[in-house]
Amino acid sequence: MKTVQVSLGDRSYEILIASGLLGQVGELLGNRGIHPTIFVISNSRVFELYGEGLLRQLSDRGCQVIKSIIPDGEQHKTLKTVGQIYTDLLAHRADRSSMVIALGGGVTGDIAGFAAATLLRGIPYIQVPTTLLAQVDSSVGGKTGVNHALGKNMIGSFYQPELVCIDTDTLSTLPAREFQSGLYEVGK
Ligand SMILES: NC(=O)c1ccc[n+]([C@@H]2O[C@H](COP(=O)([O-])OP(=O)(O)OC[C@H]3O[C@@H](n4cnc5c(N)ncnc54)[C@H](O)[C@@H]3O)[C@@H](O)[C@H]2O)c1
Repeated sequence: MKTVQVSLGDRSYEILIASGLLGQVGELLGNRGIHPTIFVISNSRVFELYGEGLLRQLSDRGCQVIKSIIPDGEQHKTLKTVGQIYTDLLAHRADRSSMVIALGGGVTGDIAGFAAATLLRGIPYIQVPTTLLAQVDSSVGGKTGVNHALGKNMIGSFYQPELVCIDTDTLSTLPAREFQSGLYEVGK
C-alpha cells in the first residue's frame, strides 16, 4: 500500500492507495476507532458495483450503516440533492459522532463532502473515489460543493476528509470514455 501524508496541522489526513483497498476499509476504520453510525453516500450505479461489500464490512464491525443513494450525473450536483442527503441523515439521527463515506466519482465526492461539511456544522467524512478523475484530483484537497443555475461549483466549502482510500481496482469497471476524460485531466 502506498501512503501519502497530507500535512495540514490538526486537519492532516492520509491518502491510502492500493489494489483491493476497498475490501479493507472496514478494517482501516476499525483500527482508527470506528464511528457508531456510518452513512455511505453513493449513486445506484456505483453502489451496485461496490456498495454491498462495503456495508457488510462496516456492519460486521458493529456499527449501524445506512446508505443514502443520490441520482447519477453532474446535473444533480445541486442543493436539491444535498437536501435529500440532509433528510436521509437526520431521519436516521445523524449526530457529530456519525461519519459519512463518499463512494463514487467526483460528483458524489463533491456533493457528499459538502453535505458532511454543512450538516450539524460539520461531521467527519472519508472519500472512497472510484473514477480516475476523483482518484487523482477531486477527492484530495478538501474542495466540496455543488452547482447553481448561474454557475458551476458556485456553492461550496473547503472541508478536509479524515481519510482518502483509493482502490485502483475500481477503475476496471469505469467506462473507457470516463477513463479517458480522467487521463485528460491528469495531462492538464
Ligand atoms: N473537488 C475538487 O477538487 C474537484 C476537482 C476536479 C473536478 N471536480 C468535480 O468532479 C466532477 C466530475 O467527476 P467525475 O469525472 O468523476 O464524474 P462522475 O462522478 O459523474 O462519474 C462519471 C460516471 O462514472 C460512473 N462511475 C463512477 N465510478 C465508477 C466505476 N468505478 N465503475 C463504473 N462507473 C463508475 C458514475 O456513476 C458516473 O456516471 C465534476 O463535478 C467536477 O466539478 C472536483
